[in-house]
Amino acid sequence: MKIALLGLGTVGTGLLELIDRNKAYLAKLAQSEIEIAPILVRQINKKRDIIGDYQITDNEEIIFNDPEINLIIELIGGEEPAYTYIKKALQNQISVITANKLIIAKYGKELQQIAVQNKVKLDYEASVGGGIPLFSQIDNYFNSADIKSIYGILNGTTNYILTEMENKQISQAEVLLKAQKLGYAEQDPTSDLDGYDALYKIIILARHCFARYFALNKLSRSGITEVTLQDINIANQLGYKIKLLAKAEIIDDKYYLDIRPTLLKKENPLAQLQGVDNGLLINTFNKGDYFFAGPGAGKYPTALAVFADLKNYFVGNKNLNTKNLIKADLLDINVSEHNYYFNIKLKNTETLLKDLKKEFKNEKIEIRKIVENDLKNDYLQLIILTEKIKYNSLNNLVKIINEKYKNIFIINYLTIEGE
Ligand code: NAP
Ligand code: HSE
Repeated sequence: MKIALLGLGTVGTGLLELIDRNKAYLAKLAQSEIEIAPILVRQINKKRDIIGDYQITDNEEIIFNDPEINLIIELIGGEEPAYTYIKKALQNQISVITANKLIIAKYGKELQQIAVQNKVKLDYEASVGGGIPLFSQIDNYFNSADIKSIYGILNGTTNYILTEMENKQISQAEVLLKAQKLGYAEQDPTSDLDGYDALYKIIILARHCFARYFALNKLSRSGITEVTLQDINIANQLGYKIKLLAKAEIIDDKYYLDIRPTLLKKENPLAQLQGVDNGLLINTFNKGDYFFAGPGAGKYPTALAVFADLKNYFVGNKNLNTKNLIKADLLDINVSEHNYYFNIKLKNTETLLKDLKKEFKNEKIEIRKIVENDLKNDYLQLIILTEKIKYNSLNNLVKIINEKYKNIFIINYLTIEGE
């Protein structure tokens, strides 16, 4: 049994340690000795802290020209060359295990078909939820017709940043460096901060939960870069935590997927996830609600999820429920409804305050709660919580205020979930 490892970074190093320590166990499962082919990296001369006697290469031909390789584990990340390598492997009848959510979200349907045609496997437990075994639970336990909605905290980096900002009262920039050092962030951390990483993950989860595929370019997302320490503190005082919430749900037979920083009531189990932890709430029509939680990123939790796929490769798991996917009919985001939190600064005059309230009224936005704080230099801060409003009313309001008023500033607006 010859395995090729592509990538030897945070996850690859953790996996190599696990393979090395469990060689005898794996050999028993495989009923064959396990051999590791030269490991593909980008920088051949980089100093590496790895155990065991393994060869390293920066030449992919060594792997793709080796007819003895049975399985490729892709831990490079990003779109290229990972996509080309995975596709080539499957076309060459080599099974693939990957932790790459971008590839699975964007090309998963196509790659799964190639895998089926070539009678090989494509597994990706580590791509969503880090160390939480999500797909094995979803595929084996739930029935797609019974799932009403899924709500998740699916990005460890941003959850870590939001938690550290609150606990240490520091800015985003200061925490990001730490998240990178801990190996949580993507090579390009804007994927984490701008919500793309979470979007890839909710697309993959929704595919398994609803047996539908979702076109990446049709979906909206926003990240946490605009969330300030002030927003976090105000939300806290009002009984909420701000989280990067990923959700997918069925509304009137249409599918609604979204990634947004959101105010969650403190009692919500997702609001209680600290640091790098991820969680997923599955609401069903008939079986009640389920909550899964655990470490969402990091060397060993993620490597363990890859290792689980490796074990399943030998012992066989159930075929993933994503072979005959129907295209999902998406709900128009403009008709989706939410409660909102606004943080607005304005010149402290009665006229402006009246104007602002009038603009809310014109858009038929009902105010549920308003908190006024006097600021320095004759400014006033208003925290406004609204009743449920449509997304296009929100957009109209923000546009009108930004265009029409020089002395009213919308500092931030965020969704509130679970009112
Ligand atoms: P990483 O630390 O950045 O490691 C990437 C590895 O890939 C490095 O060894 C790098 O080589 C190699 N590489 C990069 N470009 C390459 C190229 N063009 N050709 C050959 N090798 C190349 O990444 P990671 O954190 O381990 O993540 C790997 C994958 O797991 C990604 O898809 C990521 O999204 C996913 N994932 C990560 C986590 C986590 O907590 N880190 C959790 C879940 C999923 P050099 O070492 O020579 O630079
Ligand atoms: N960058 C990702 C995160 C790694 O922070 O969640 C795990 O997929």
